[in-house]
Amino acid sequence: MIMSKETLIKSIREVPDFPIPGILFYDVTTLFKDPWCLQELSNIMFETYKEKGITKVIGIESRGFIMGPILATRLNAGFIPIRKPGKLPAETIEESYDKEYGQDTVQIHKDALDENDIVLLHDDLLATGGTMKAACELVKRLNPKKVYVNFIIELKDLNGKALFGDDVEVESILSL
Ligand code: PRP
Ligand code: MG
Repeated sequence: MIMSKETLIKSIREVPDFPIPGILFYDVTTLFKDPWCLQELSNIMFETYKEKGITKVIGIESRGFIMGPILATRLNAGFIPIRKPGKLPAETIEESYDKEYGQDTVQIHKDALDENDIVLLHDDLLATGGTMKAACELVKRLNPKKVYVNFIIELKDLNGKALFGDDVEVESILSL
């Protein structure tokens, strides 16, 4: 079954005032819950990247850990986690970034990539772009051959895409 992107967008639950008053939260669990939506999302992502020679999909904790491994298996690529501090057991490198209140840090294993890797960095949502920008800088320090960036949803008005330079290709499946 081929679904329109509008159908996929309709399956995203909007939760007002979560996690704090004034924030409209886009809940992807309802998109993943529907077997046809999940399949369609997987198909669209696979079609977008199947000819890029991706060797590693990197998912960002925690919502990037859902579609990331699904896509990795379809692309015959490996899967690598980027995690919040103190979770990865071996030697890591890290990158910190500013959030609305305070700072946050992302980590990756130092031996996760080599210079032959073609990397697809995946997360569920592009909002301000702070999280993915930090993840991208982190990954670049490991010198992969090429970096692609993918989101399920992009919040257009926040213009997070502007943070990324011409050296990375940024794609989002759905725009809100
Ligand atoms: C959310 C979302 C993205 C990030 C987007 O994750 O899953 O990772 O925020 O925001 P940004 O573009 O402004 O950086 P969150 O930190 O809430 O954690 P979670 O994935 O563990 O739920
Ligand atoms: Mg997240």
